[in-house]
Amino acid sequence: MKKTVDEHAARFDEIAADYDDEKSPEYNECVALVLEHASPEPDDTVLDLGCGTGAIALGLAEKADRVVGRDISEGMMDEARRKADERGLDNVEFGQGRFREPNYDGDVDVVTSNFAMHHLSNEEKREAISVIAGLGPRKVVLGDVMFFGEPNPEEPFYSPEVDDPATVGELADAFTDEGYALTAVEMVHEQVGVLVAERL
Ligand SMILES: C[S@@+](CC[C@H](N)C(=O)[O-])C[C@H]1O[C@@H](n2cnc3c(N)ncnc32)[C@H](O)[C@@H]1O
Repeated sequence: MKKTVDEHAARFDEIAADYDDEKSPEYNECVALVLEHASPEPDDTVLDLGCGTGAIALGLAEKADRVVGRDISEGMMDEARRKADERGLDNVEFGQGRFREPNYDGDVDVVTSNFAMHHLSNEEKREAISVIAGLGPRKVVLGDVMFFGEPNPEEPFYSPEVDDPATVGELADAFTDEGYALTAVEMVHEQVGVLVAERL
């Protein structure tokens, strides 16, 4: 991780109120694909890691039985809580939790994460994927900045000073090493994609 957890949390606290304002077409497509691939059953519990202002968690709350959002930034989660209230959603909760310590030990059927795991180093991503696998979900849907080709720091999808994206191959290895098979790989842009990992 190129910044500490506290530094990342402070950074997102600062931008939380404006975070939803302008989103790239690639981000929007990624959100849509994560929602589509997650497609929870009505009795499923979904855990959304790095939930931010709730793009994924709130989008899935109408389909799932329960959605649990975890993040390190209270500012981002306050926005998510406000939107949940506005929409009258009472089956979604948001609380402090990190990728490698999600602060959740209940049953989980589907884990999602969108545009968040790239803050971790590759070794930390592996640890996070191992922790996620240990929770026992049948499916993990990861939308994120990830390299399909050669990393290109000139491109706009990540900031080398704070972000640390992996290649698709590195992420695929981490999932398969934990007993998951990749059942879909969606390339949104050569640096943005969605991976669907399902328990073999
Ligand atoms: C770019 S935002 C994405 C938010 C949301 N998932 C979305 O799709 O809009 C990244 C989020 O990841 C969170 N984050 C960063 N590092 C984290 C970590 N180690 N554990 C959990 N969340 C983290 C940040 O606080 C921020 O809310």
